[in-house]
Amino acid sequence: MTFTTHVRTLSIGRVRRQRQIVSAAIRISPSVTAGLDQTMLRLALAIGSKEVDDHVASNRASWDAAAENWVESGRERWADPVIRWGTWGVPEDELHLLPDLDGLEVVELGCGTGYVSSWLARRGAHPIGLDNSRRQLASARMLQQEFGIEFPLVHGDAERAPFRDASFDLAVSEYGAIIWCDPYRWIPEAARVLRPGGRLVCLGNSYLLMLTFPDDGEKATRSLQRPHFGMHAFVDADDDRNRVEFHIPHGEMIRLFRRSGFEIEELVEIGAPATASDAPYRMATVDWAQRWPNEQAWVVRKQ
Ligand SMILES: C[S@@+](CC[C@H](N)C(=O)[O-])C[C@H]1O[C@@H](n2cnc3c(N)ncnc32)[C@H](O)[C@@H]1O
Repeated sequence: MTFTTHVRTLSIGRVRRQRQIVSAAIRISPSVTAGLDQTMLRLALAIGSKEVDDHVASNRASWDAAAENWVESGRERWADPVIRWGTWGVPEDELHLLPDLDGLEVVELGCGTGYVSSWLARRGAHPIGLDNSRRQLASARMLQQEFGIEFPLVHGDAERAPFRDASFDLAVSEYGAIIWCDPYRWIPEAARVLRPGGRLVCLGNSYLLMLTFPDDGEKATRSLQRPHFGMHAFVDADDDRNRVEFHIPHGEMIRLFRRSGFEIEELVEIGAPATASDAPYRMATVDWAQRWPNEQAWVVRKQ
């Protein structure tokens, strides 16, 4: 077995950014990878990904620096009475990701400006917003006061959630922990803080989007741009703070959920609605996303 590190560049988002995809590729057959002990696989990823060891600190610095850019879009969502998911704003009434919310104790992992929690609070849930960035939480606090909806906001890391075991009925993440935390750390943590029967609902970029997004472009392509095996951490080398995102293949995700004590209820793959129009900040065009999903949501239940 040989461990190697692949370093590539990837441009992403509104502005062309140089990124490195840092991943550990395991030069063995897929059937062996599938059976590989998870501890060994984690070790392989750690060996191959030294650059991401400080991802919580670099992501905190990056989000603190960017927080003010997210206030306006956060305010628009706070003002919207409808629960909408993701970059297309697809209504919850169409996706049906959430259980009946009334009375549920909820944690939002990577709450940002807190609009998802605000929607849940308005429907009778009792949310707590957890976020790694003090500046993002300051925006959330300001919007709470503006809209008169208050719930606890906690500064902390979703990979080491500062809550007792079995504290919540529901954990949610919309482009929070689901993309900014190491899945091998935050998914077991989500399982720990949920009560038996509790659900985790998390939505972010689709696996297919991350496979097809080019090194030197703005939007997803129609061809595979990087290996499936070893996909894990994406380091934004162009960001002053080297922020890091995480994306892993579906098979890995399923094994991780099951190993963490979750049963999988749904994987909802989301594309562009018929009425959608292109926007520079989206990583796929409408044309692309009407053929393939650019976003995905997992709904899993703690056993
Ligand atoms: C896209 S934003 C949040 C999404 C939220 N729906 C919004 O748009 O306001 C991502 C958030 O994840 C937070 N985050 C990143 N790493 C985190 C970690 N390790 N623990 C908790 N939150 C984290 C960031 O600080 C940021 O506020």
